[in-house]
Amino acid sequence: MAYKTRDWRNSMRVTLDYNNMTDTFLGEKGFSQKQLNSYSAKAANAFRYVQENRGKDELYMGWTELPYNQTEIVEDILQTAKKVRANFQYFVVLGIGGSALGPIMAFNALCHLHYNDLPRSKRKGPKFYVEDNVDPVRMRDLLDVIDPAKTCFNVISKSGATSETMTQYLIILDLLKKAGVNVKDNVIFTTDANKGNLKKISDEEGGIKSYVLPDGVGGRFSQLCPVGLLPAAVLGIDIKGLLAGAAYMDHACRFPSMRKNPALMCATLQIAAMEQGKNVGVMMPYSDNLKFIADWYCQLWAESLGKNVTLDGKPCNVGQTPVKSLGVTDQHSQVQLYTEGPYDKVVTFLSLKKYGCEMPIPHGCESIPDVAFLGGHTMEELIQAENAATAYALTKAGRMNYTLWIPELNAFTLGQLLFLFELQTAYAGAMLNIDTFNQPGVEEGKKATFALLGKAGYAEKKKELDSLPAKDESCII
Ligand code: PA5
Repeated sequence: MAYKTRDWRNSMRVTLDYNNMTDTFLGEKGFSQKQLNSYSAKAANAFRYVQENRGKDELYMGWTELPYNQTEIVEDILQTAKKVRANFQYFVVLGIGGSALGPIMAFNALCHLHYNDLPRSKRKGPKFYVEDNVDPVRMRDLLDVIDPAKTCFNVISKSGATSETMTQYLIILDLLKKAGVNVKDNVIFTTDANKGNLKKISDEEGGIKSYVLPDGVGGRFSQLCPVGLLPAAVLGIDIKGLLAGAAYMDHACRFPSMRKNPALMCATLQIAAMEQGKNVGVMMPYSDNLKFIADWYCQLWAESLGKNVTLDGKPCNVGQTPVKSLGVTDQHSQVQLYTEGPYDKVVTFLSLKKYGCEMPIPHGCESIPDVAFLGGHTMEELIQAENAATAYALTKAGRMNYTLWIPELNAFTLGQLLFLFELQTAYAGAMLNIDTFNQPGVEEGKKATFALLGKAGYAEKKKELDSLPAKDESCII
């Protein structure tokens, strides 16, 4: 069934304005239309590669179908969410990386910014925490503010072997058992359908409610499957709207011409800029609600594109370093560098046409013109003016930037943004001819951790670590 009316959907369309990437606005620092056109064939090939491989589990492209193939799962999630809201005071996600950044991002984007501080009557769900680290202080402090017996823990791990998540699970398992709680009453797993340790654990505990992280969906592309949908539903977020927004953006990106396909144009602009040495991609939302979409995007872009070998097995060292920045806050911290530092960045602005409220600025301090001029405006006007002014200042200084315009922030527009970034990443990976969906570079650190903690099978790795030369004391000052 269609989501809302066509007119409403079209009024909520996220659009791309890339004028500030062109020579019309940047002079010789910008792309000419001819330069951009020289990428048309490459872009069309990337589009075709993604189209042809849509939904292929073996290539980890299952995420492309998530907006369309989850009707039953969504209903199940909504039922579970209802029960969680009725029965628990706290909802805690245990997960890391792709199993945490999506839930954090959606929570921050679509819930009250001080959600946990609101009284229960003003919250749509239980208090919400996402634990994506193994800092012992953080775990201690979490346990100071929740009662495990009154908490639903959503353990999200595709492998069930991630040390961080499983450490957290062992701690809460112990607490639940000590509190005399039946583990399966307070725990929900989101994991692989067949493989992985959580499946075994679930069987041992008598069948823990489990959602499937589909085979062909990698962690960083998983926000639109139960990884992100269950926490979002518990928070009362319109998950059908998220998926409808993703489908809408998918439809908007059905063209092989980058001039008509916003995700393909974003990918092309970034690739063309990277070829000119723009090795840093700044994601700068002008919205506190969108602060954590920058974190989510950073993982997506960094883990997907940072690779040292092409699909043909040729060595390469590609990728662009994503940086998160928050407008206006980071105008007072990073924008000096962006405006006058090296010409090595592309700034993506996420700009809202309409905020959740306007917040009028009262008149006052009339004898102080520096302050008085603000009175009578609104905070919405101010943040929008600062966004426009920063884009102007960067452009004037010859710095590449483009804007994704969001009519207003809601589940439908957030779904569009997520899908746009996922497609953009897949297109960019195809243009770079790399495996966008693996992450071999994070393995070495994991193995070294296992060796340091004495995991069976890692004795050789331990020997390797022990054979490092002794630290030179003169290098420690
Ligand atoms: O994007 C990814 O694949 C990673 O960030 C994983 O999500 C992360 O390492 C957690 O893995 P798992 O879900 O197996 O616990």
